[in-house]
Amino acid sequence: MNIRLFAPHLGEEELKEIRDSFSKSWVGLGKKVAIFENDFSKYLNCKSSIGVNSATAALHLALSVYRFPAGKKVLVPNITFASTAFAPVYNGLEPVFVDVNEDDVTISLSDLEKKYDKDCAAILPVHYGGQPAHMDIITDFAKAKNLKVIEDCAHTIGTDYKGKKLGLWGDIGCFSFEEKKAMTTGDGGMICSNNSELIEGLKSKRWLGIDKDTWKRANSSAEDDARHWYYDINELGYKYNMNDLSASIGIVQLRKLNEMNKKRSEIITKYLSGIKDLKSIKPILPFEPGKYSYWLFGVRCDKRDELIKYLKKDGIATGVHYVPLNIVNYFKQWYSKCEISEKIWKTFVTLPLHVQLTDNEINYVIEKLTEFERANLL
Ligand SMILES: Cc1ncc(COP(=O)(O)O)c(C=O)c1O
Repeated sequence: MNIRLFAPHLGEEELKEIRDSFSKSWVGLGKKVAIFENDFSKYLNCKSSIGVNSATAALHLALSVYRFPAGKKVLVPNITFASTAFAPVYNGLEPVFVDVNEDDVTISLSDLEKKYDKDCAAILPVHYGGQPAHMDIITDFAKAKNLKVIEDCAHTIGTDYKGKKLGLWGDIGCFSFEEKKAMTTGDGGMICSNNSELIEGLKSKRWLGIDKDTWKRANSSAEDDARHWYYDINELGYKYNMNDLSASIGIVQLRKLNEMNKKRSEIITKYLSGIKDLKSIKPILPFEPGKYSYWLFGVRCDKRDELIKYLKKDGIATGVHYVPLNIVNYFKQWYSKCEISEKIWKTFVTLPLHVQLTDNEINYVIEKLTEFERANLL
């Protein structure tokens, strides 16, 4: 057996849409990006979506709309991917690492209260693995303290949390379409909001601050206009746009998303039932696969490294998500104690989860986990 940890689910339909872009000889920022943005807004039921080339770029730009003065602070969970904490740094702001809840690995409200001070300007909650952060309480806290909320939705697309889609609880939501995620465009991201005015300016900012993108210029049809090529730049911009090839894939992937989310939920349900009697290996999250869309499945085990080696020998890929940011070399300069995350991450093992995983493979992983427990309890 050789079981991958993650794998994109791509096929002939995506290729057909890409061929269409080839046949039109337009593969950069163009009409397909606009179609995908529109489809995404409809899916999420939000007013505005802006396509970019990664969620890292999305988080950078989303935070930039507020023009917080340099040195202000942004509260981020301590267990997340580096991009969440890079967003404040890119904007000249300081990340403040907040501990996570022991059970659901989302940002801890008690530590949020402890780490907050009057220099804090925003919170970037992460829905770790697809587990919703407690957005109702977080947004109440943010309102009371006058903090902006930007949701890092890199791990979930489509979850309804207490009657509202994740990504729409905060002021802005940022999504990832990187190859391993719930849906992919190769690399890509989306910035979403119900406040169109707030994020509208990011359309030019993702395109070097140019006030008229090439698609608009190419389509400028007035025959007596000799200056269709003219544009101006009013602010510092970035080359962060999504392109039509990525959007071609995204348009099709979005149509398949509910089906893919359902498949991942079914796999998680099988894993949960297969490991329910194990004593030394427990689910990493309080999974509710019928309710929420998860991107990651994993377990907690005190003999983490031994388990990883055991599974590796049998051809099962594993991962660890993530090393707490406060102990990552670069981020140590903003170190603050996060007792729970510094303890629990040492038990984390991410297991294979992707749409093509077969029953045979799932059962094989469960069998190996069971074998490991037996060998290690004796
Ligand atoms: C929590 C989180 N935020 C942001 C990102 C960045 O996403 P992207 O790779 O699209 O830049 C990731 C990517 O893995 C992530 O896991």
